[in-house]
Amino acid sequence: MADNDNGQADPFDSPAGSKRRFGGTPTSAEVAESLAARRRAERGDRARSAEAPPEREMTEEEARRGERLVATWFVVAFLAGVAFLVFYWLVPTHDAVSASLSNKLLGTCLTIALFGLAIGIVLWVRKLMPNKEMTDERHELRSSDEDREQFADYFVDTAESTQITKRPLLRRTLLLAAAPLGLAPLWLLRDLGPLPDKDLFTQPWRKGMRMVVAGTEESEEPRLLKLADVTDFGIALSTLPEGVHEFNETAKAALLIIRLHPDEIQDNKRGRVQAEHGVDGICAFSKICTHAGCPISLYERETHHLFCPCHQSTFDMIDGANVVFGPAARPLPQLAITVDDEGYLVADADYFINGPIGPSFWERGPNRNTDG
Ligand code: FES
Repeated sequence: MADNDNGQADPFDSPAGSKRRFGGTPTSAEVAESLAARRRAERGDRARSAEAPPEREMTEEEARRGERLVATWFVVAFLAGVAFLVFYWLVPTHDAVSASLSNKLLGTCLTIALFGLAIGIVLWVRKLMPNKEMTDERHELRSSDEDREQFADYFVDTAESTQITKRPLLRRTLLLAAAPLGLAPLWLLRDLGPLPDKDLFTQPWRKGMRMVVAGTEESEEPRLLKLADVTDFGIALSTLPEGVHEFNETAKAALLIIRLHPDEIQDNKRGRVQAEHGVDGICAFSKICTHAGCPISLYERETHHLFCPCHQSTFDMIDGANVVFGPAARPLPQLAITVDDEGYLVADADYFINGPIGPSFWERGPNRNTDG
């Protein structure tokens, strides 16, 4: 071994003094051995293919049987594709139950359509196309002109060997199977509409409507909210208007009921308006973030802050739900509430203060809130 700078033997030197290889480029001997092994393998392949029995020609009867089998799967794919379009059009998605049913039906149909198409193509290859072993030699990146011509001939021969040119039933059923899937995106365009028209300017709360809260640990049934139910200071409850079940309407109408100690509410213009529209410190705010419309429920009792999980907008719930952090540009809208003769909390107006509910669309409208 050669000595290193410290006069010690260098463990990385070979006995002959040349550097040892730890990986990467093989030595000349390794290359020669590898090429020899490859030539031996190629000679073996040629010998084996010379010994292989000649391939038996497919009879016309076998070809027809294969054709019918493939066509059957293409028809299955076609029927499933049509069912997908029909279910997409007919099954409503107005509430969670029907939306779930629609998803299941669409998923099943799409699975069968793609599965049928895939099975048909696999059977086509296995039943009708020639079964030959082929060796593809390595060649330079750009093929010679002669090779290109050969490829063109090969391409045409292969297309003919699939029998697609002489079997119109296969050709047509394949196109039939693919047609509904090709049209599916047109149906999906339906989700871009209809235009919202006045929907963005309306909300379902009406004066006198009671509030429904989801079931609790004691009872799974939704129940109407009474003043006596909101006893804890710092409590935050999600509610919906009684009698409203339509999917989009309930999404818009979600309220957060918060009970604050009346002394905690800020003594400024926003705070006074907030207290005035509540009952004994109980206030009702829209749960829809005024930034991009995410539902908000993360209420921190100590700071009285309500956080939006989407982009961290933070609303101060003792200051008229004013924005203290994040991209939201206006406070959460508040619904005036009162108590009816039977002690239930009810809406005391048909509209929200601080502008309509919903995301920043309203910043550009006439309802932009600019007061402080
Ligand atoms: S949607 Fe609430 S911060 Fe963006």
